[in-house]
Amino acid sequence: MAEPHIAQKSPLPIEVEAGKDYWWCACGQSKNQPFCDGSHKGSEFVPVKWTAEANGRKFFCACKHTKNAPLCDGGHKAL
Ligand code: FES
Repeated sequence: MAEPHIAQKSPLPIEVEAGKDYWWCACGQSKNQPFCDGSHKGSEFVPVKWTAEANGRKFFCACKHTKNAPLCDGGHKAL
């Protein structure tokens, strides 16, 4: 399993909309962090689909090492 690229070592706050689907970048190469822009093509990574249950601010993982994808679990502090 390849290591994902660390886009940054802090989460990205995003205002999400209830019922909307979001595609989280798992590879770390997207220029549209924290979301997929197709840059993973040709790698073993695929984006992770996540559907917001409610309106509000969520902190999306940008280090790509979270165990709670796509949301931050604080794991960037150990990198
Ligand atoms: Fe990273 Fe698509 S660009 S998963």
